[in-house]
Amino acid sequence: MEIRDNGQIYLEGVSVEELASAYGTPLYVYEENRIRANYRRALSAFRKYYPDTRFFYAIKANNNLAVANILRQEGAGIDAASVNEILLAKELGLGGEDVMFSGNFLSDDDIKQGLESGVIFNLDDLSLLPRVLKHGVPEMLSFRVNPGYGQCDIGAFVCNAGPDAKFGVHPDKVLDAYRAAKEAGVKRFGAHMMPGSSIRDPEYFGYVTGLLMDLIGRAGRELGIDFEFIDLGGGLGIPYKHEDSVLDIDAAAANVAKIFKEKIAEYGLKPPRLMMEPARYFVGDAGYIIGRVHTVKDSYSRIIGTDVGMNILARPALYGAYHHIYVNGREQEERMPLNLCGQLCENTDLWVRDRMLPKGTTEGDLIVVENGGAYGYAMSYQYNGRLRCGEALVNGTQHNLIRRAETFQDLIGLMNVPEYLKRN
Ligand SMILES: Cc1ncc(COP(=O)(O)O)c(C=O)c1O
Repeated sequence: MEIRDNGQIYLEGVSVEELASAYGTPLYVYEENRIRANYRRALSAFRKYYPDTRFFYAIKANNNLAVANILRQEGAGIDAASVNEILLAKELGLGGEDVMFSGNFLSDDDIKQGLESGVIFNLDDLSLLPRVLKHGVPEMLSFRVNPGYGQCDIGAFVCNAGPDAKFGVHPDKVLDAYRAAKEAGVKRFGAHMMPGSSIRDPEYFGYVTGLLMDLIGRAGRELGIDFEFIDLGGGLGIPYKHEDSVLDIDAAAANVAKIFKEKIAEYGLKPPRLMMEPARYFVGDAGYIIGRVHTVKDSYSRIIGTDVGMNILARPALYGAYHHIYVNGREQEERMPLNLCGQLCENTDLWVRDRMLPKGTTEGDLIVVENGGAYGYAMSYQYNGRLRCGEALVNGTQHNLIRRAETFQDLIGLMNVPEYLKRN
């Protein structure tokens, strides 16, 4: 993003005015070159310290196939959280060992379809193993391990591991899980964890790697298992507030690789592939939401009404997440504390309170919401009959619509009114 001399905001080489007039608002926009740069920065840092590193993009964060194709071109596999995400990976031409299925609390149908798809199956609990074995013995299996500790810079409720999390095999049951899989005839093994989200402290990554490697190392040594890969999950954080520190990716990679290699040596493991499945780090800061100010109300305080509500960006209302906001053409102007909301009949839709925004913000202005690339569009919904918006991709001065906005037909298209209800 760039603010040019006249105060106009550009995403790569395209002004937000041009994007808004081409595709309407609200609109998600992704900067292709930034996604590629983020991916390359992270991969080169990890490969510098551990050459056998591979990234699987967690497609849940942003499932637009254009965005996912950028990461596929860069060499990423896909981390799928559901059967439909396995099918999205298939749309990218990816399957087999390029895709890892890490569902949780799966139905029998999920298990059947997951196994039939032939991707790497990552079990969230030992209790799933007998249900998997009903369909035959998979050649390769991984368990998602709860290493007993998790962390999240957004808030405790987003924490994915430790005693309060719903995810992963309890640390005391990890040995039993791999023993049971080995006794059932599984021949190839992997291991996985996802203990934290949006972390900017490089020490954390080394710490949790040590926790996992101790659990996996003991299992490997005791059961004579070689792990082909160890997946350390995602969690590479980005700064949401401008005063937030930037994750030192080189230090994170160095910390991880150091402890990874030490534990491989300590437990006598055959060196596995180091896998990670970040998403926010690749796409988070490459995405923006362009919205329009429609109403300015002076009530107890001034409220700027825009078309970017919690239906378009759920994170602030869902877990108090902060997103920086720019007002196109006004960034150099005097500021005052303002509130900003969307158009939903919920007061949590007033998602910006007392933020220092340009005083002159008025009807017709465009706003640009930062860091919308991850868990943005993917979490949007249709409450109040509001429709999901479109998504565009910019590359230099080129732009393309990569998902059209929904229409009224998309709202009613799945509904069915039984004939008897149509009569008076
Ligand atoms: C299993 C798993 N892997 C990877 C990710 C991606 O995490 P992040 O976007 O923090 O990198 C998530 C996010 O929730 C996840 O649940």
